[in-house]
Amino acid sequence: MALLPIRIYPDPVLREKCAPVETFDGELRKLVDDMIQTMHTAPGVGLAASQVGIDQRVCVVDLSVGEDPEALHTLVNPEILQRRGSATDVEGCLSLPGFTDKVTRPFEIEVRAQDVDGNEFLLTAEDWLARAICHELDHLDGVLFLDHLRGLRREKARRFLRRLEREEALV
Ligand code: NI
Repeated sequence: MALLPIRIYPDPVLREKCAPVETFDGELRKLVDDMIQTMHTAPGVGLAASQVGIDQRVCVVDLSVGEDPEALHTLVNPEILQRRGSATDVEGCLSLPGFTDKVTRPFEIEVRAQDVDGNEFLLTAEDWLARAICHELDHLDGVLFLDHLRGLRREKARRFLRRLEREEALV
């Protein structure tokens, strides 16, 4: 396994719509293993492939950050089938270091996805797991959590993004 560099905004890969995975092979398995290690080391509770520069529809979520193997979810080509209710809570993102704000998400979702071998499965998630999955699925479409903010919060987010753009331009 290897640690992968996490892409920081305004890296253009973060705005790409990722392509469906069609080949389930050793390369995909290695990508997923590396993403899990990278997420746990960061530490973070979710990571999308675009955040490590790969524009494919793969993400990993683990609310336990490595403590509970059953809390680890690998989602390939995920799709939300149903959304129920709503909940508002604070989010952050490894690609937007230093910024957090409240985002409204569905309270419960039903997701269809494939595992690393291509087997399809259904997952019902609620509360924080639903939030984390929605956040990662957004990444696969080039959407960042602060895109959901409105009004003054959106202004604050815009100022933060401009600051990141200036900082990254100096690197
Ligand atoms: Ni994120």
